[in-house]
Amino acid sequence: MKTALLLPATLFVFFGFMPHFQNTTPTFADIEPILEDRCTMCHSGSRAPKQLRLTSFVELMKGSEDGPVVVGGKPGQSELMDRIKGISEPRMPLNGPPWLRDEEIALIEQWIDAGAPDAGKAAAAKTSQTEISTMKSEFVTFEDVEPILGIRCMKCHNTKGLMGPAPEGYLLNNYENALDSRDRARIVPGNPDASELIRRIRGQALPRMPFDGPPYLDSAETELLEKWIVQGARDKVGKAARIPVGARVKLHGMLSGRWTLDGLDLMRGGRERIDKNPQIGDYVEVRGRVTNDRTVLVERIRRR
Ligand code: HEC
Ligand code: HEC
Repeated sequence: MKTALLLPATLFVFFGFMPHFQNTTPTFADIEPILEDRCTMCHSGSRAPKQLRLTSFVELMKGSEDGPVVVGGKPGQSELMDRIKGISEPRMPLNGPPWLRDEEIALIEQWIDAGAPDAGKAAAAKTSQTEISTMKSEFVTFEDVEPILGIRCMKCHNTKGLMGPAPEGYLLNNYENALDSRDRARIVPGNPDASELIRRIRGQALPRMPFDGPPYLDSAETELLEKWIVQGARDKVGKAARIPVGARVKLHGMLSGRWTLDGLDLMRGGRERIDKNPQIGDYVEVRGRVTNDRTVLVERIRRR
């Protein structure tokens, strides 16, 4: 009785379901949504990493400045495949984990295996979709700044980056890590001047970031990051970050007064240590704690 019921069901799966998959060779139209969802935030426009743009079939097939990333019929020789599987590092998407799902990786592999055919019919509603998402919020959110961090910072500030483990243990591969203040806060929501991340980008704190610059960030990118922090370092849905009251900070810059750091007022509690007799104009390191009004209570100022 049981087998009699099971057999037709099995037959249905084999003959009703399987041929549907086997007969449809994936085309670019099938993988485009994956690229749009997980890749184009970085791989688009003039700043695309290694000039690899994944925004259209033609762009993808142009490859990167090092050559093609997809070799039709040869997934094993396609750098794109190696990157999404983590055979070649850094693994893509660079802001993972999460990486692509197994089904997504398999689909891209089948597509390349089938000779990487073009779409046929292009997704027409694509641009209006992008316009909607950029109008979504009047605030700068993490969604707006993530591509900058992705293209310029994550290759080092990642679990397995170009320089090995993240420099200073500072991960910039996602929102939570960028804001993490357990070790110390590199972002003080509401106060870019007290945020070492901004100080490094401006070159007030040295070495300037990105470490492999020049080129450094341009003024539009720097201003966007500053604005993001001024508005509370909001997450992707627009929620402002909590102020990490009491968290440690370690800032670098020029002593511009007694005591200001490039114009940032430093609060004194009366118990701070002043080392090596720093003078106005000296490059110093300031250690302190974040206060509830987003400023810095100094614990130590040392000439460097
Ligand atoms: C957060 C930003 C970011 C995202 C998202 C991202 N990438 Fe990348 N990608 C980079 C950076 C930066 C590099 C250059 C890293 C390096 O030096 O190898 C890169 C390099 C690559 C390369 C190597 C190109 C070459 O010629 O060596 C491929 C292929 C690639 N990415 C594919 C993808 C794919 C596919 C996705 C989506 C599944 C993706 N990337 C998502 C930032 C990103
Ligand atoms: C080529 C690798 C590399 C890239 C790319 C890079 N960094 Fe760094 N980063 C480093 C190194 C190395 C250090 C440690 C430098 C030092 O202080 O001696 C560092 C330190 C930092 C620090 C100080 C961390 C702390 O605990 O005080 C911040 C903040 C920072 N980087 C932000 C960024 C940002 C933002 C970007 C992108 C705009 C970026 N970095 C790109 C290598 C890199």
